[in-house]
Amino acid sequence: MKTFSTNKLFSIVPNFLSKEIEDFWMAASIEELTAHFVYINVANIFQNLGFFGAQKYFEGESTEELKHYFIVRDYVNDRGGLLSTPETKKVLISVSTIEEGLDVALKLETELLTFYEKGYRLCSDMNDFASTERLHEFIRIQRESIGEISDLQARYNRTGNSPAAILEFDEYLGEK
Ligand SMILES: [Fe+2]
Repeated sequence: MKTFSTNKLFSIVPNFLSKEIEDFWMAASIEELTAHFVYINVANIFQNLGFFGAQKYFEGESTEELKHYFIVRDYVNDRGGLLSTPETKKVLISVSTIEEGLDVALKLETELLTFYEKGYRLCSDMNDFASTERLHEFIRIQRESIGEISDLQARYNRTGNSPAAILEFDEYLGEK
């Protein structure tokens, strides 16, 4: 458990995170872990539905989110901070088709982009340029995720809801 005040240290050692920005990165870690668990849950639902390609795809996404959590953890550590063990947010997941799974992913990734953009403004206003530099990567990750999911939705729409075409799409997802 941390026993020092980051604000006090920030005034002595410029590398330390200010309290406001440490709180932002703490919130980022919760967002990433929440995304990790959401994708695990979506993958489990697809396993249950027999869409094993979608299961594999969402498991992969879940692993990516955990990696993002560790990027946040490492960054906070580099800046002399310590992430406490966060509680993830409670998210109700109701998915019964691949189309709905992609909708969940798009909403999640879009909200994360907005979250990181707000964080960028905060870090920029507070002249924490090391954090803005770190945030470039997170904003890029979100832009690419949104682009990929949008492409998948376009491809899914071409199935015309034909069961055979949806199964083929499921296989395609599993190979991504
Ligand atoms: Fe992420």
